[in-house]
Amino acid sequence: MQIDIITVLPELLESPFQHSILKRAEEKGLLKVNVHNLRPYGLGKQKQVDDYQYGGGAGMVMMIEPLANCMEDLRKEKKYDEIIYLTPDGERLNQSIANELSLYENLIFICGHYKGIDERLREHFVTREISIGDFVLSGGELAAAVLVDAIGRLLPGVLGDETSALTDSFQDDLLAPPVYTRPADYNGWKVPDVLLSGHAAKIDAWRYEQSLERTRKRRPDLLKE
Ligand code: ADE
Repeated sequence: MQIDIITVLPELLESPFQHSILKRAEEKGLLKVNVHNLRPYGLGKQKQVDDYQYGGGAGMVMMIEPLANCMEDLRKEKKYDEIIYLTPDGERLNQSIANELSLYENLIFICGHYKGIDERLREHFVTREISIGDFVLSGGELAAAVLVDAIGRLLPGVLGDETSALTDSFQDDLLAPPVYTRPADYNGWKVPDVLLSGHAAKIDAWRYEQSLERTRKRRPDLLKE
């Protein structure tokens, strides 16, 4: 999969994909993240990418031409499955959206800034709008990094143990059960006996019960369906 990210702050996206699981994904050739600086597409000597909004009001708006030209250039090279705009008023990201996007070959992510991007870009270029939660970030870059991570780890072959993404929280609309590692007894705080029993069926049953219990307590909304 290739993800092309368009941003005015490429520096913000230098590090997130160069460690751990996403780094391994790149090394294995399973994921390539290309960060594109929007600035060279800016207009005039100042390479302007934003302007005052029509109708007045505080805050700048990202202009059509720089983004449109940048996307046109990208589209000359590849066909894209989705052009995704990261924005707080998009559909709220969840595991099922991450699963769906992980099946695609080529994605563009647009990182907004200021008051957002000119609405005509959303109407004519953007095919999907995603929010990472009900809060406002100062730009779309960190949201894009979150989305790359959520998708990248799902690509087949990225996680060492293929089953581990399947046992994540949310994969079956349940939160993950508690986990423990050595020592079995830390100053009297003990690991539940069942996990030391070696009885696989009992362990599975315990984990499922714990998942249900945790979901009921913390996220009853997930159980409604
Ligand atoms: N840009 C600013 N806030 C955002 C959010 N919550 N999700 C996605 N993109 C954003």
